[in-house]
Amino acid sequence: MTAAQRRTVAIVGAGPAGLMLSHLLWRRGIDSIVVEERSRHEIETANRAGILEAGAVSMLVDEGVSDRVLRDGHEHDGIELRFRGRGHRIDFRDLVDAAVWLYPQQDVFADLADARARDGGDVRFEVSEVAVVDHLTAPVLSFTDSEGERQEVRADIVVGADGSRSYCRGLVPASERREYFTTYPYAWLGILADAPPSAPELIYAHSDRGFALISQRTPTVQRMYLQVSPDEDIAQWPDDRIWEELVARTAGDGFELRTGTITEKSVLPFRSYVDETMRHGRLLLVGDAAHTVPPTGAKGLNLALTDVAVLADVIPRALATGDTDALDEYAERALDRIWKAESFSYWMTQMLHLSPDGDAFDARRQIGELRRIVSSDRGSAYLAEAYTGWPR
Ligand code: PHB
Repeated sequence: MTAAQRRTVAIVGAGPAGLMLSHLLWRRGIDSIVVEERSRHEIETANRAGILEAGAVSMLVDEGVSDRVLRDGHEHDGIELRFRGRGHRIDFRDLVDAAVWLYPQQDVFADLADARARDGGDVRFEVSEVAVVDHLTAPVLSFTDSEGERQEVRADIVVGADGSRSYCRGLVPASERREYFTTYPYAWLGILADAPPSAPELIYAHSDRGFALISQRTPTVQRMYLQVSPDEDIAQWPDDRIWEELVARTAGDGFELRTGTITEKSVLPFRSYVDETMRHGRLLLVGDAAHTVPPTGAKGLNLALTDVAVLADVIPRALATGDTDALDEYAERALDRIWKAESFSYWMTQMLHLSPDGDAFDARRQIGELRRIVSSDRGSAYLAEAYTGWPR
């Protein structure tokens, strides 16, 4: 064991939330350490969602992380909603004067990891046996580093940015957690395919065979998803069946799905979850460690980044006054947006996915709802405002 080191903030988890927080704190003159069990390569090659709100893009650019998103990302001024064989464009620019960016989470992560390395940030990948003690009074983070050396770091504040299976969340006694969740009778089968894009923007398709989403990655690689059941056996989905289903679910209107070679497939179960206890003593939880959303609204990463923006404002003030109760402001402010995003993601999910028991009333209700959205500017603006992100 080496002698205990000191950092002002100890962050568990080097995903986009943990790294962005470390970066923002550094910009505000506060030092931190970030520890992560996975390797940089492992995080960089995991497929995650791909849509950034304009606010997330400005955070990357204006806070000096990188402007690569402006060069390699693609600005999307709208999406298409497809149902009953017809496409309906929701024009974000016209409706709410906003846009989103297609820029995969792996790229956000790579930009942040590069920026932390460039700015001399202390980020330790491939650590093991992470433990936090005394988070109510005088937190100590310990871990075994990639060289097998046990390390100990004393810190004023510990932040759990360690994802939906968070170790840090477990530090809060179950009796003090305020947890809310709901589950859904569906999941997504996601694929990556070598193929050209089928359309300039994302397509969210409702059909009587279930939901499909046609997204993109690059001019030669596409990302697509289709609704399956949560206990789906991926072995039942040979490539031909996936294409057949994607084509059928998006058919009509002369639309032609461009197919190709599938290079990866996996099933993503989803649920909605919020733990409103985002602060416990000197421990704070951010991003997926505190809440998850189903991927239909593309809100997960965006929400993690807005959590971090609030924290980067609250932590320096709490440290300056020495009053840890000031940390309560974090949850108060963050939960407003979290519940808006939970509501939006739930609504998009329930509007677009086929109920597995084939409820005929529900299918017609969904068409009524989709018609309310696409046949009125006010209806469309409701979706556009939420999708592009509410003002901060
Ligand atoms: C993606 O491109 O991975 C993606 C896009 C939009 C979503 C979810 C995932 O709603």
